[in-house]
Amino acid sequence: MQEFYASAIRQTEGALCDELREGGFKSVRLNRGGIPFRGEWSEGWRACLQSRIAQRILVLMGRSPVTTADQLYDATRAIDWTPYLTSEQTLSVSCVAVGSTLTHSGFIALRVKDAVVDQVRDLEGDRPSIDKDDPDVRVFVYLANDKASFYLDMSGQPLHMRGYRARSGEAPLRESLAAAILRMSGWDRQSALIDPMCGSGTLAIEAALWASGMAPGLARDRFGFERWASHGEKEALEVRALRGALRAEVTGQKPAIVAADIDSGVLDIARANAKIAGIKLAIREQSVLNLQADGVARTLVTNPPYGRRLETDSNFPDQLGTVIRRLHGWRVAILSGIDAYEKAIHLPPKHKIPLVNGDVDCHLLIYEIE
Ligand SMILES: C[S@@+](CC[C@H](N)C(=O)[O-])C[C@H]1O[C@@H](n2cnc3c(N)ncnc32)[C@H](O)[C@@H]1O
Repeated sequence: MQEFYASAIRQTEGALCDELREGGFKSVRLNRGGIPFRGEWSEGWRACLQSRIAQRILVLMGRSPVTTADQLYDATRAIDWTPYLTSEQTLSVSCVAVGSTLTHSGFIALRVKDAVVDQVRDLEGDRPSIDKDDPDVRVFVYLANDKASFYLDMSGQPLHMRGYRARSGEAPLRESLAAAILRMSGWDRQSALIDPMCGSGTLAIEAALWASGMAPGLARDRFGFERWASHGEKEALEVRALRGALRAEVTGQKPAIVAADIDSGVLDIARANAKIAGIKLAIREQSVLNLQADGVARTLVTNPPYGRRLETDSNFPDQLGTVIRRLHGWRVAILSGIDAYEKAIHLPPKHKIPLVNGDVDCHLLIYEIE
């Protein structure tokens, strides 16, 4: 049994925890920053392939109390890294340190790197080289309250990089944040959904992929763990079988999903991204201000503009508020980076969930319009 850690964007831990439990992962625990779970190695592979909300999947290699640089070096060397890393491969080490005697994360990463490469050199007579951008093996060290946890990153590229977003409009949502928002919105994955300010289409594309049961990692050629020395033919066959099993689980369920925006240029981008993702969306050029309830109970999930764009049109939140209030029977989820939207809607949100979009503190406002 391995202990894994699925890292999350701040405030999406609850959604990630739900997702992993629903996916049948074991010993899933709600925790700040990310979600630990346990299982065979194949469960780590499956999480890389299946999770829509995790940023990365890490596997724990060891834990040790550490207060000095020498202890850090010895604790790193006490772990056997040589099954994963040879002198012909590349390595990177990064670190987060909080509340500990050793404070400098760059220095900690350097000592850990020294210990790992020394271990490989003692065995093989040669050292692996360092590649910070695209290493074969990534080591993460988390030092909290003088206790070091050493992880290997299984993902490689962060999991939110699904590969379908060739281009993006202004302020695109990270795909994993969009997936978390959809889960938090309470959408049932069957009823009609619209993003009337879709930009590059992230929410609508994630919604279509989620509804169809398409594991997001199926679109990716290779994960970090597939570059480890330990990943041989037997493992490659097992991963291929796992991919096949996940492909067989695709239901192909296609609820009506509409992606609309006022900007025709950005809709071309959304259309191209949806094509790469292999899904069909109904794409409409229209202003959200022309949206009408049509007797169908729909879910609206969107991320309206904020900042500079709004300064030119300060009436927009009030106009949008009027539109939202007339969407009788709809469920509405708005990721808002400014207070003006909540004020303008004039209804108490059913839920108001703090979230962070890039460096902007936001709230996800959820309404059930009567
Ligand atoms: C923050 S961006 C959305 C980003 C999107 N979630 C993504 O991931 O790319 C806001 C979008 O609202 C659109 N927008 C602004 N005013 C609008 C209006 N009146 N009707 C429809 N869309 C509008 C903009 O064109 C922009 O694409």
